[in-house]
Order: sequence, then C-alpha cells, then structure tokens
Amino acid sequence: MTSFYLECGACGSMTDPIPLAALCTACGSPQLVCYRTVSAGSGPALRDTWATRQGGMWRYRELLPLLPGEAPVSLGEGGTPLVPLPRMGEALDLKLLMKDEGGNPTGSFKDRGLSAAVTRAVHDGAQRFVLPSAGNAGVALAAYAARAGVPATIFIPVDTPKAVFDRCAAYQADVVPVDGLISDCGTRAAAHAAETGAFDLATLREPYRIEGKKTMGLEILEALDWRAPDAVIYPAGGGTGLIGTWKALREAAALRLIDRPVTRLYAVQAAGCAPIVRAWEAGHDAAQTWVDARTAAWGLRVPSARGDGLMLRALRESGGGAISVEDSEMRAEARRVACTDGLAAGIEGGATLAAAARLRERGDLAAGETVIVFNTGNLGNYGRYTG
Ligand SMILES: Cc1ncc(COP(=O)(O)O)c(C=O)c1O
Ligand SMILES: [Zn+2]
Repeated sequence: MTSFYLECGACGSMTDPIPLAALCTACGSPQLVCYRTVSAGSGPALRDTWATRQGGMWRYRELLPLLPGEAPVSLGEGGTPLVPLPRMGEALDLKLLMKDEGGNPTGSFKDRGLSAAVTRAVHDGAQRFVLPSAGNAGVALAAYAARAGVPATIFIPVDTPKAVFDRCAAYQADVVPVDGLISDCGTRAAAHAAETGAFDLATLREPYRIEGKKTMGLEILEALDWRAPDAVIYPAGGGTGLIGTWKALREAAALRLIDRPVTRLYAVQAAGCAPIVRAWEAGHDAAQTWVDARTAAWGLRVPSARGDGLMLRALRESGGGAISVEDSEMRAEARRVACTDGLAAGIEGGATLAAAARLRERGDLAAGETVIVFNTGNLGNYGRYTG
C-alpha cells in the first residue's frame, strides 16, 4: 500500500494508484492525490519538520507523491522567494507580494510539476515521454527527462519563440513544431503515445504534476508564517497552478497548518483567450473552447483546458473570481514592476499585476489586504518581454 491514493475530481472514485496512472477509469476526468499517512494531529508538527529541512519543493515530501526511501528526479526546483512589492502595493493600497518562479532550474514554475510527474512515471517504468506544451512545460520536461535518462518528444505550436525550441533541443529532446495551438499539440501527442507507447504527461491527464505545483501554495503559506493570504491571483492556462494552490490551501487547513483556507483565488486570462473567465461570468461549471485564441502571453494561450471544472470549482469554493486583461496591460505592468520594485517579470507576471489593479478598482480586493501575485516565468526566459 502506498502512502497516497487517487480520488477523481469529478465522480469521487477512489483507487490505489496503478502504475502510470492517468485519467479516472470510471468517468475520464482528472484524478487528484490524497495522502493517508498524515493525520490532522501530526499536521502542526510538520511545520517544524519542514523548517529544519533545506532545499526546494521536496522539503514537503510528506505531502508529495514519493515512496519511502525514494529519491525524486530533481534539479533543485522550488524554494523560490515571495518578494514584497512595496511600491506597487502602496499605489494599490495593498500588501502585495510576488511569488517569483523565475529562479527555477529552467526558468519557470513548470519545473515543479514535471519533477513530480517524471519521478512517478520513471518509478512506474515509463520508457519514453510525450508532452503537448505551450512552451515552458516543454523545456521543463526536456530537462527532467534528460535528468532521468528517458527520451522525450514534445509537441509545441510552431509560432512559439524559437528559443523554446532551442532550449528543448539542447536537452536532446525531440521537438515537433505543430501548425496550430496547444489543443492541436494535445491531439498529436495522444496519437504519438498510442503509436509508440510513450507516456503522455499532458496537463491534468496524469495526477502528479499538480502535486509539484501545489508546493507553490505551501511555500507561500510558510513564507507568511502559516497565515493564509486574503487573495491569490494566478495566470491561468491549463490551470495546474491554480488548482494546485487551491489544493495546498485545503490540505493545509485539513492538517491544521493554517486556521482556515480563507484565501480567495482569482484566475487571470488574456482578453484574446479567456475561456475560464467567460464560463465564470456566465455562472457555468465547465468552459467552452475559445475560438481563435490570440495572446502574446503564450503560456495563457490555452483555448480549452481539461481542468476547467476544477478551476471553476476552486474559484467558486474560495469566494474568488476570474478576470481578463489585454496584452497591452500585461506588458505595461511587467514594465512597471521592473522599474518600481526591481522585479523582472514575464508577461504572465504582468497579467497578475494588471488583474490586481482591476480587482482593486472594482472592489474585489479591499484596502490593506494581503495579495499574492505570481511571476510564473522569468524575463530572461527567451526575451519574451519586449516592452
Ligand atoms: C509562464 C506561464 N505562466 C502561466 C502558464 C499557465 O499555467 P497553468 O497551466 O498552470 O494554468 C504557463 C503555461 O504554459 C506559463 O508558461
Ligand atoms: Zn471519475
């Protein structure tokens, strides 16, 4: 028996994790990991245990899918700073902090998810990997697959910055440009998996990437001395980070690591590709595919997400919401935070700041609240921020 089991996020079916677990066999929805070994009583003691450990996200291994004695496939991911933005915060009358994920091994938060997923898949005997990606996840898989010594094929939209292809190639991954969006890459990846037996690590198709992403939430709570912030604003594409943060808050509350998961979660999307915002505003619990998706924030160019229902549930249950912003606003805010607070944000980071300003304006964020924004990838990440 492993220390964790899987629970379907839609139908609630519970199973022991089969090797190379993917979607729920009963209903085809994403599955989430639940932990058996940690009880509420032992929760507070975990804070002390974790405080004595060095390093990145695997410090939280009691809440990660790792078997006893198992070494993760790791490049030192996680442990990123929660950087106060005093000037941006003052302008908005908020206590604003940015979780800066740019310092991860390949320059984005995607490393966390891929470290967790590759760890499990390698243990389960995966001989090759395949992934559809908007860009950053592809680079992350290329790195972690190289680390694990397992070949990887990555399908990426052809108009993704060339540097992404170069980075994947540098790790000796097989990169296939696709004339289409990430959804088309998903179709190609699934066909490739069927043909070759490669394990498909697409967002939320397997249950472990989200566990890695969840550690962003744990790190935020720990940095705030285990007090839940008032609000978190997340740049949502496939949604693993948003769902992961929601899961972190719920697990932390269940284990009494925090008093209550009071944090409101907000998703920000690009005005040119906002399926979750549209569904949220219509009061739906699932999203329709966005036709003609366009945004320079290629991490957010996700016209349909397998995690739509879970994202909408996270927004609803946390009392948060969803908002879209224009590319021009994202760029302006990325530029602003660089010169006011010295933080070099990617365009998706700019999106979370633009959303903070709008949410403050419309009264969703109250004066003096503690608000976390994310910089999911770094400026040096292929020079995507062109000003
Ligand atoms: C920099 C960046 N931010 C945000 C996202 C969206 O992340 P998620 O799939 O967790 O919603 C991506 C996805 O590619 C990304 O690369
Ligand atoms: Zn199910």
